[in-house]
Amino acid sequence: MKKLTSLFILFISILFFQNHSISAEKVKFLETDWTFKGLFGKYDRASLQRGYQVYSEVCAACHSMQYLSYRNLAEPGGPEFTEEQAKFIAASFEVLDGPNTDGEMFRRPAKLSDKFVMPYENVEASKAANGGAYPPDMSVLAKARKGGADYIYSLLLGYDDPPADMKLDDGVYYNKYMYGNKIKMSAPLSDGLVEYGDGTEATKEQMAKDITTFLMWSAEPHLETRHKTGFRVIIYLIILSILVYLTMKKIWSRVETKV
Ligand code: HEC
Repeated sequence: MKKLTSLFILFISILFFQNHSISAEKVKFLETDWTFKGLFGKYDRASLQRGYQVYSEVCAACHSMQYLSYRNLAEPGGPEFTEEQAKFIAASFEVLDGPNTDGEMFRRPAKLSDKFVMPYENVEASKAANGGAYPPDMSVLAKARKGGADYIYSLLLGYDDPPADMKLDDGVYYNKYMYGNKIKMSAPLSDGLVEYGDGTEATKEQMAKDITTFLMWSAEPHLETRHKTGFRVIIYLIILSILVYLTMKKIWSRVETKV
């Protein structure tokens, strides 16, 4: 019986602590209190909306997010702008459409179904404009990089003066968290760079947190549903284990123990 109980406890603790057990990172990332971490984690809507603002006003000048459509901004589990707001956002961009009946391409305001407008025509153009470095598409970047949200948050705040013995070429910057400590993106954030509509003070840290939350959502839009399902599965397993235990006791109670 003891064995069964300890197996059960082991099983439950693996479920609960799996997130934390295998994260022995070498570089220590900056920490902040993410609302989406943990078993009950949810995105902070206001932070997602501010994050979109930072993306569109700052990062979108160089980074595309090709898997996002404007309608995603109004979907449950995301920034949850109203449909009207999302339509308004979309309409502020222009996309190429066509051909029309004359066989010509034309430009029109974007609709909810359109993908996010890209800053460059293609990868080569983006490299040419950034000193040979490619600003990666950010749709799933938070999942593609080791360290995820913590890495991106740290990278955005990790600019510093280079150590005395390090020489940097033009257009290369020192960053504590970038692989090799050299990055071809100048520090994109500075205090007060955007003006938040909800009155939140736009410090570097705040903007880094908001844009990272936004990137985390775009990389994992179904996190909230996944957490909900996970929680239900755990409850189900606990009830099942109790039932199995009671059944087992009942069955074995009929066997007489001889001493
Ligand atoms: C002026 C153009 C420009 C702007 C604006 C810009 N970036 Fe970048 N970004 C780049 C370039 C170029 C790279 C590639 C750097 C390299 O490979 O050395 C990059 C790389 C990155 C990386 C990837 C680092 C890695 O691990 O490869 C992240 C994350 C990132 N940018 C986030 C952001 C965020 C968030 C914003 C908005 C707050 C932003 N960037 C704004 C040009 C830009």
